[in-house]
Parts: sequence; structure tokens; C-alpha cells
Amino acid sequence: MHLTQQNRMRVAIIPLLVVGFSLFALACSNSSNPPVQAAAASGTAGNSPSQQRRLIHQGKLLFDQTPKEAPDYVGNKLSCSDCHIQSGTAAHAAPMTDLAGTFPQFSKRAGHIISLQDRIQECFVRSEAGQPLPASGPQMAAMVAYINSLSKDQVNGKPYPGRGLIKLPTLIGNPTRGKAVYVSQCAACHGIDGAGAPPILPALWGNDSYNNGAGMNNPAKMAAFVAYTMPQDQPGSLTPQQAYDVSAYIHSMPRPKLNKAYKAY
Ligand code: HEC
Ligand code: HEC
Repeated sequence: MHLTQQNRMRVAIIPLLVVGFSLFALACSNSSNPPVQAAAASGTAGNSPSQQRRLIHQGKLLFDQTPKEAPDYVGNKLSCSDCHIQSGTAAHAAPMTDLAGTFPQFSKRAGHIISLQDRIQECFVRSEAGQPLPASGPQMAAMVAYINSLSKDQVNGKPYPGRGLIKLPTLIGNPTRGKAVYVSQCAACHGIDGAGAPPILPALWGNDSYNNGAGMNNPAKMAAFVAYTMPQDQPGSLTPQQAYDVSAYIHSMPRPKLNKAYKAY
């Protein structure tokens, strides 16, 4: 075959491109979990697009109806989406959007670097008052696949602006004033007894709520969550002080205890 000058150059460049791309792919797979492969590697999933779609669908179901879909691992009546609002896509409700690439990351709570799977387990043993999922079982694979699917638009080096919770000034909550806020602004949905009406209206304290090791059990974190997202029919209507007060009131109420066997998460 006769090669023109231009074709010879192409023939020389293709292997370079292939090597270059493989190196690039390797580098990426260490740092930022390309969505689909990470899910398949961590579980029982097949690799076809329809199997992937099914896994993502199962993960979303698990996220939205956690007590129903993972009864053996949930100790209360909360779904992930009761706090991570709109199936984990609402800004400043600790969203899952573009989250996967931020793991592995250092955890202050654990004192070491944790994976996305570890972080999911934390919410199972604390926010769900339950126990860890089997690490390589189908539920973990589905959950990771779903969270990864929310990262497809991730732009490296450009953090998602709705990450985490909003920043509030540090204030001291007053539970007595907080009770008045609760009765007038929250009780209609969450009940005067805090038990809500699961699975539609989540419990804020008592057996059906998160345990005392959960992030939401920190009044400053709850205040930040509440100030931006609650009351659900009028979000943003509370002052920061009212958000701290109502969180202090809710914090003074009884709830499940963290099982010490799962403290490592
Ligand atoms: C009671 C409320 C609540 C429930 C229920 C809950 N979480 Fe969370 N979750 C939080 C809060 C609050 C944070 C942020 C905590 C912090 O800053 O320490 C968080 C953080 C996370 C993070 C890390 C987010 C980030 O920005 O780094 C992941 C991942 C996560 N949760 C997954 C889940 C999954 C999966 C479920 C269901 C199995 C779940 N959570 C259930 C309250 C909850
Ligand atoms: C109109 C009904 C409604 C009102 C009023 C309301 N909430 Fe909620 N709340 C919800 C729903 C529904 C959720 C689940 C998340 C979602 O779908 O928005 C929720 C979730 C929560 C959560 C996280 C889940 C949990 O159980 O821990 C907290 C905390 C919370 N609300 C606190 C409050 C506080 C404090 C007030 C009053 C200032 C309030 N809410 C008023 C409906 C309401």
C-alpha cells in the first residue's frame, strides 16, 4: 500500500494517541471513579447499558424508599431522600449531585480517608439507625450506581455550587423559644409528638427517627438544613436564630442510640 506523507503521519500518531488515552483513563480511574465502571466493579452488575440502567433504577428506589427496599439494614422509618431532598438532587440538602468524584476523601469523623461506600454506610448506621450494607452486595452496587449516575456532568476542578449545607453564623439555640417555632411552623406536618406520618412525613424524634450519632443530631447542622429547606411549604422563611432555636428544641427530644458495634463508620 502506498502511503502519502499525511497518511504516514496519521499511522504514527494513532499508537501514541492510544497509549496516551490509556494513561489518561488509568489516571482518572484512580482519582474520580468513572461512573459506570466503579459501580460494576463493586457489585454483581453486568456491563450492558440495560443492566446498568436497571441498577441505577434500583439504586434510586433504594434511595427514595429505603425502609421498604432494605428492611434488614434500616432501623427507623427514614429514607435517604427525607434529608437528601428530591432524590438527592436538591441544592444545600447535602446533595449527591457531582459527589462521587470528591471521594475518596478525608473524614474528620473517622480520622482517615474514606470511600463513597464508607460514607453511605455512615448514613445507614447513623441516619437510618440501622446497620451497614454487605460491602459487595447488590444494594451497595445499586446505591453507588445511582449516585455515580448523578455525576455524569461533573466538570473536574469546578466544584458543584450547591454542595453540602448552607453556612450560617454560629448562634446559640434556645429550646424554649424553639418549641414555640415548632408548634407554629413544623407540627402540622411532623406532628406535635415529632413522629410525622412516614413514609410521607418523616419523624424528627422518637423510634422512627435518626440516631444520636447522625449528622442531623448536630444542632448547627440541622439549623443549616432547616434554614434553607424547611418549613417545606415555605422554605427560607425562618431567621437563622429561629432555625437554631427549633433545632435546639428537636435536639432535646429522645431518639435511638448509635450501636457502638458500628462506631467505626
Ligand atoms: C436524617 C437525615 C439523613 C438521612 C435519612 C440520610 N442522610 Fe446522608 N447525610 C445527612 C447529613 C446531614 C449529611 C451531611 C452531614 C455532615 O456534614 O456531617 C449527610 C451526608 C451524606 C453523604 C455525604 C455528602 C457530602 O456532601 O459529602 C452521603 C454520600 C450520604 N449522606 C448518603 C446517604 C444515603 C445513601 C442515605 C440513605 C441510606 C442517607 N444519606 C440518609 C443526613 C441524612
Ligand atoms: C408542609 C409540611 C412540612 C412542614 C411545615 C415542615 N416540614 Fe420538615 N419535612 C417535610 C417533608 C415532606 C420532609 C421530607 C423531605 C422532603 O420531601 O422535602 C421533611 C424533612 C425534614 C427534616 C429531615 C428529615 C428528618 O426526619 O429528620 C427535618 C430535620 C425537618 N423536616 C425539619 C422541619 C422543621 C424544623 C420544620 C419547622 C420549621 C419543618 N420541618 C416543617 C415536611 C414539612
